[in-house]
Amino acid sequence: MSLSKINTILEGVCERSAPNLGDLVFLLSLNEDEQVPLFDFADKIRKNFVGDGVLLRGIVEFSNFCRNTCSYCGLNVNNKKLTRYRLSTEEVLESVKIISECGIKTVVLQSGEEDVYPAVWLGELIKEIKLKFDIAVTLSVGERLEKDYALWRKSGADRYLLKIETSNKALYESLHPGMSFNNRLGCLDRLKGLGYQTGCGNIIGLKGQDLRHLAEDIIFFKKHDFEMIGIGPFIPHQETGLRGELKGDPKLALKVLALTRIITKNTHLPATTALGSQEKDFRADALKSGANVLMPNFTPLKYKALYEIYPGKKCITEDGSSCLGCLEANILPKGRYLDFSRGDSLKYKERITTNV
Ligand code: 5AD
Ligand code: FES
Repeated sequence: MSLSKINTILEGVCERSAPNLGDLVFLLSLNEDEQVPLFDFADKIRKNFVGDGVLLRGIVEFSNFCRNTCSYCGLNVNNKKLTRYRLSTEEVLESVKIISECGIKTVVLQSGEEDVYPAVWLGELIKEIKLKFDIAVTLSVGERLEKDYALWRKSGADRYLLKIETSNKALYESLHPGMSFNNRLGCLDRLKGLGYQTGCGNIIGLKGQDLRHLAEDIIFFKKHDFEMIGIGPFIPHQETGLRGELKGDPKLALKVLALTRIITKNTHLPATTALGSQEKDFRADALKSGANVLMPNFTPLKYKALYEIYPGKKCITEDGSSCLGCLEANILPKGRYLDFSRGDSLKYKERITTNV
């Protein structure tokens, strides 16, 4: 396939409001040489729509308890080998203080999905964070009752991440025993309804997933107009149902990322930790293929290794501030800079402005 033909298809995909499935499958199957124009195109769109700044989100993994049995995730309840932990209010506040001292203006509070902490506890914690620090709070704590989402929003939470992992109902339900795809969609709707800037995302290379599924994921992201989308390759974990399966291809994850940028334009797209946790660190490539966000990990060092979603996770031996220095020195491409602003969603602002 000639490069000019690939560019023509890319232009069509970029202009159309509803992307064509066949075009996406074709672009996802480009080989090593052919994919260069795809990455370059995504980089151009990234520059036009979100600029050269790389936004920062400090992540605190405050509990690894989980009631679910997701067949890819090392935190699943059947992993009895994992030592479980939960941070105290003081420990979370100390981590947020370090994030804030580094100049970062978003904290992502992430945990497994388990009601070991009462919703009110998290609500009070959010209030205290908002009182003490000038920082946006993103939650990533899974499927909860609408009243809990409402309470946390009222307490001051700004954003919520809930990945769909795969937008194919049958595949979703085969990978998430006991969970319902429709409930997940319902949670995403309720979060949006409550005014959260809502993030989604998927995993690349899951057992049973093909290029068509990935193309459908991209169409799903476009249709739901999420403010953030995290895309990362699957990494098999010994203590899960998918042990022994092939790992996801990071280069395919980069293609999904690039197409997501081209199609969704001004969404915030992180260079995910799963992309960094490979034979080489693909986060620099991600930043050149559409990504505009990095998420240094500020979980206290003594717990970091226990948040083992997958093996070989990046940055578990350094503290958060060394992570930040390392990202600047090793990951940031030429011409890009770390952006220490809050980095609210550009879509959210658009919607608020058009609603008044
Ligand atoms: N490989 C890659 N990503 C994974 N996640 C969970 N398990 C794995 C795995 N084995 C991702 C999911 C989840 C996020 C916290 O980590 O997308 O939403
Ligand atoms: Fe914890 Fe899936 S195993 S949310």
